[in-house]
Amino acid sequence: MRLAALQEAPYAFGSVYEREVDAPEERWRKALRDRTRFIAEIDGVVAGTVSGGEGDSEGVAAMTAMWVDPRYRRQSVGDLLVKTVVEWARAAGYADMLLWVADGNVNAERLYVRNGFARTGADQEMRPGQLEYEMSRRL
Ligand SMILES: CC(C)(COP(=O)(O)OP(=O)(O)OC[C@H]1O[C@@H](n2cnc3c(N)ncnc32)[C@H](O)[C@@H]1OP(=O)(O)O)[C@@H](O)C(=O)NCCC(=O)NCCS
Repeated sequence: MRLAALQEAPYAFGSVYEREVDAPEERWRKALRDRTRFIAEIDGVVAGTVSGGEGDSEGVAAMTAMWVDPRYRRQSVGDLLVKTVVEWARAAGYADMLLWVADGNVNAERLYVRNGFARTGADQEMRPGQLEYEMSRRL
């Protein structure tokens, strides 16, 4: 799923396919331990994924690695994944959740706004010449 996401939507993520495709098994296993990974299935087929984990500051959870297979977009899978990871963060006791979205990724930003996220005003370069914006919401 991760490699499919990086190949299909390279504009959306900080990492790139070439950096991850040959990663040793231990790195993949560590990634599974470091974050809680969710997948959405439709009739037994994996349609999308999102991750939740510790943010940079106390009481703040981070949402990362959101991706829905293009065959299953615009069917509310993204909505379900956001709601699932928000619920996970709330149950884990976090007070806020944050994420980063690439400048110009309007589909993702609309999904997040619809689910209560707003830009914080912080931005950073995800790669040279490409900005991303921080968004957050209370839980
Ligand atoms: C952003 C992304 C996750 C959205 O996933 P999705 O499953 O299409 O999201 P949803 O279906 O919940 O919502 C998408 C749109 O479909 C609409 N929709 C949802 N269910 C629908 C239905 N049954 N019929 C018609 N439209 C529907 C939503 O209202 C929304 O419309 P809008 O964009 O005009 O506001 C997906 O486009 C994606 O994977 N993009 C590439 C990776 C990426 O950008 N990841 C985010 C990194 S920050």
